[in-house]
Amino acid sequence: MEKRAVYPGSFDPITNGHVDIIERSTKIFDTLIIGVLDNPKKQPLFSTNERVSMIKKIFAGNPKVEVASFHGLLIEFAEKKQAEILIKGLRAISDFEYEFQMALMNRKLNPDIETFFLMPNLHYSFLSSGLVKEIFNLGGCIKGLVPELVEIKLRGKFSECPEN
Ligand code: PNS
Repeated sequence: MEKRAVYPGSFDPITNGHVDIIERSTKIFDTLIIGVLDNPKKQPLFSTNERVSMIKKIFAGNPKVEVASFHGLLIEFAEKKQAEILIKGLRAISDFEYEFQMALMNRKLNPDIETFFLMPNLHYSFLSSGLVKEIFNLGGCIKGLVPELVEIKLRGKFSECPEN
């Protein structure tokens, strides 16, 4: 039976830490649906359409990856996509408490959907979308932290990244 998993997040923007989790997931599951949160209460740097479009381009060569936006409950999105697995990345112990709470709450909402935790490469244990935006905005270099396409798009939003 086809194993379908959902990897949810804000992805504002997608980082190489997310890419690492996606690559690990597609080795295990048949289809990975990347769920981009469309949260009207937040003011993201990249619009939902921009985030979806960037991720689609980055994974255009991987037939196991689907990308879609969602709003409302993650568990309802997973049900709609007929996925029985949620993927969450754990970078450090500090991620654990909140993720643990969400995993148990999602299990309460639908006991048939299981949360899988994956750890990215240690190189990315310090990486977050928020830090990438802050560093870039303040003129720091983010080479190697995000896919090249994201760096190009960030340049469009902010100023030039200084050469190493
Ligand atoms: O990349 P993020 O912002 O850390 O991702 C958080 C996300 C999207 C996984 C989380 O906010 C979420 O699941 N939002 C959907 C709303 C929902 O289902 N809330 C109840 C969670 S138990």
